[in-house]
Amino acid sequence: MKNKYIIKTQSECILVQDDLLILKKQIELLKPSQIVLVCDKKVQNIVRSITRSLQVRKSIFLNIQESSKSINMWMQLQKQFYKWNLDRKSVVLAVGGGVVGDLVGFVCHTYMRGVSWVSIPTTLLSQLDSGVGGKNAINTNYSKNIIGTVYQPRICYLSADFFKTLPEREITSGLGEALKYTYLTNRIRVNVSDFKARNYKKISKMTSECLNYKMSLVCRDPLDILGVRQKLNFGHTFAHSLETATNFRKFRHGEAVIHGIRFALIVSKNKGLLKDSLYETYRSNLMDVELPRIPRSLSGEELYRLAQKDKKSISGEIKMVLLEKKGKIRNSISVTKEEFLTAYEQLKLHY
Ligand SMILES: NC(=O)c1ccc[n+]([C@@H]2O[C@H](COP(=O)([O-])OP(=O)(O)OC[C@H]3O[C@@H](n4cnc5c(N)ncnc54)[C@H](O)[C@@H]3O)[C@@H](O)[C@H]2O)c1
Ligand SMILES: [Zn+2]
Repeated sequence: MKNKYIIKTQSECILVQDDLLILKKQIELLKPSQIVLVCDKKVQNIVRSITRSLQVRKSIFLNIQESSKSINMWMQLQKQFYKWNLDRKSVVLAVGGGVVGDLVGFVCHTYMRGVSWVSIPTTLLSQLDSGVGGKNAINTNYSKNIIGTVYQPRICYLSADFFKTLPEREITSGLGEALKYTYLTNRIRVNVSDFKARNYKKISKMTSECLNYKMSLVCRDPLDILGVRQKLNFGHTFAHSLETATNFRKFRHGEAVIHGIRFALIVSKNKGLLKDSLYETYRSNLMDVELPRIPRSLSGEELYRLAQKDKKSISGEIKMVLLEKKGKIRNSISVTKEEFLTAYEQLKLHY
C-alpha cells in the first residue's frame, strides 16, 4: 500500500508596516488567550506605544548580545513561559534585532510544540532579513546557529521608529543586506546616500520592498528545501567565513556581507560568468561604503577551511551563489580551493 499525504507545514505570515491599528486587528484575529512580550532592553522606551496599544501585561526585557542565543537563555525563556501560564493560544511578541528573533522564534517553536509569535525586528538588518522567513537558531560553544528550526511568525511588524536609535554601524550593516537584494532582482534599487543621510522614509520603503521580495521566495519554499531561497545567500559564503575567523567581533554581519559580495563578484568574473565591464561597474558602486578592513594576517587557507563548513557546501566542496548580471543569479556553483584563494588575493589587493 502506498499513500501520499500532503502536509501544509507552515502558517501564513502577515507583513504590517507602521500601522499599529492594523497590527492590533491582526493580532485580535488570532484570538489570543494572552499576549506577552520578550524584548531587547535597548528598545524598552520605543516599544511602549506598542505594548500600551496591545495591552501587554507580562514582559521580560533582556540585555542582548550574540551570546544570548544560548541553550541557557532558551531554558530561561521556557521557564518564563511556563510561569506565565502560556498556552497554545498565547501570542508572544519578539521585539529586538536578529538575536531576539532567532532566540524567541526557537523558544516559541519548542514551547508546547509551538506557540504563535509576532516578529518585531528593531535593527535595520533584521527588518531587511531575519524578521521574516522563519529561520531561527541558537549557538553552542563549538558552532554558531547550529541548533534551530524553521517556524514562521504569524505577523511581522516593521516600524521606522526603531531606526532612530541605531548606531551608525548598525545602519551600515543593514545597508550590506539591502545591497544584496539589488543583485537578486532588478526591481529593488538602493541609494547609499539615503542610508548615509538616514532618510528613514526612503529606507522604510526600500525595507518593505526587500522583505516582500524575500517573502515571495519564502512562500515558494517555506522550509528551505527546494533551493529557491538559496539566492538570499549571495555574498554570505565568504561573509560567514570572515565573521567566524574574526570571532564575530570585528565585523557586523552586514559589513561582512559587503566584503562577501565583493568576493562573490570577483569569483563570478574569474569564472567568466560576469563580464569584466559589468564587474567594474558593480565594483565601483560598492566603493562608497566604508568598512572595517579585512585583517592582513587572515590567511586564505583558514577562510577556505571555514567555507568548507558552510551550510551550502557538500562533502567539503564549496558551493557559492554567483552572478551573471543583476537579476541573474547562478545558484550552487562549485568553487575550487585554487579559485577561492586567487579571489581572496585579488580582494585584498582591491580593498
Ligand atoms: N534567522 C535569519 O534568517 C537570520 C538572518 C540574518 C541574521 N540572523 C542572525 O541575526 C543576528 C544579527 O542580527 P542583528 O544585527 O539585528 O543583531 P542584534 O540583535 O545583536 O542587534 C545589534 C545590536 O543593536 C541593538 N539594538 C537592537 N535594536 C536597536 C535599536 N532599535 N536601537 C538601538 N540599538 C538596538 C542590540 O541590543 C545589539 O546591541 C545574528 O545572530 C545572526 O545569526 C538571522
Ligand atoms: Zn545575512
